[in-house]
Amino acid sequence: MVQVLTQLNSTLMGMVSRGVVDLRSDTLTQPTEPMRQAMATAPVGDDRYGEDPTVNRLEERFAELVDKPAAVYVPSGTMGNQIALRLHGTSGSNVVVGRRQHLMSYESGAAGMNNAFQIYAVDDVGGVLDADAAAEAVAAGNGGFWPPVSLICLENTHLASGGLAIGAEELGAIAALGPPVHLDGARLFNAAVARGTTAAELASPAATVMSCVSKGLGAPVGSLLAGPADLVTEARLHRRRLGGAMRQAGVVAAGGLFALEHHIDRLADDHARAQRLGDVVAERWPGARLGESEAAGGRPLTNVVAFRHPDSLGLLDHLRQAGIHAGLLAPGVVRLVTHLDVDDADIDRAVAALSSAPE
Ligand SMILES: Cc1ncc(COP(=O)(O)O)c(C=O)c1O
Repeated sequence: MVQVLTQLNSTLMGMVSRGVVDLRSDTLTQPTEPMRQAMATAPVGDDRYGEDPTVNRLEERFAELVDKPAAVYVPSGTMGNQIALRLHGTSGSNVVVGRRQHLMSYESGAAGMNNAFQIYAVDDVGGVLDADAAAEAVAAGNGGFWPPVSLICLENTHLASGGLAIGAEELGAIAALGPPVHLDGARLFNAAVARGTTAAELASPAATVMSCVSKGLGAPVGSLLAGPADLVTEARLHRRRLGGAMRQAGVVAAGGLFALEHHIDRLADDHARAQRLGDVVAERWPGARLGESEAAGGRPLTNVVAFRHPDSLGLLDHLRQAGIHAGLLAPGVVRLVTHLDVDDADIDRAVAALSSAPE
């Protein structure tokens, strides 16, 4: 009895000292000490006047990385996407969007509320737009039958299909349909690292590209929207209209700059750790992981492990009791996301918890 209690006590103590492994999202990271140092010592100014040197440097650096003429720093990925819709989506037009893309399904209806165009949703199974459906909308628009298509939106990595990294050729094939493309690249650097290419290559088919420094890159705040200089100037106007123009934002932008300089290559570690979780999922619940077949077909999976489970809430409870926090991507779809604050020992614990879960 004493032995059992001692064992129980040491298990509990271990859980407390090891803390919780939070796999709900890659947005949950804490800034690292060196990142905090960079933020604390960043030179700042009033960004509304274009006078914050750190914000200016972040915008320039991001524009370089995606090989676009200019970029603007915005408080969130949602705002970056919404501004892009305003830049391209003309009133009374169709904007073609994948049915499960973030800006269609996870921005609380903002696209519809903020704009006077029509969203034309097409299937995005495996992370890629149904090219035939998109082409049909474009042709019907050009022929004057349907509203003209003023914009096509893509997402890379594609979260709802399990974090698949889509290739530049597949994105290019959609861009070849004619209308400008906006790329929601909230996790574009994950896609680039997974595919062994650059963010610039993946962004090349797009007129505008948004990416978040606040996700896998580990910065506390912010996203960037890049594109042609005239569009970025207009984007600054929309940012102001939406209340997103900031003042001494260099304090947070410094975290983003630090992330771009130091946290891109390490995304490969997050992907390897996600793969370890994916291996257990594949063993326990064969065929349940989203994106598995597309990954086998050449679209790599990244830092997300999403899988269908018949008792998803029960599984979340089981994991929570073991100190592992998981989330839901959609009803019945469990999601585990690796990030900067998750190490190999954390993955060992998550693997053990998944292995001991009931069917
Ligand atoms: C694919 C994608 N796009 C856009 C966003 C929006 O970013 P934010 O939460 O900064 O508004 C997210 C957020 O998770 C996302 O996953």
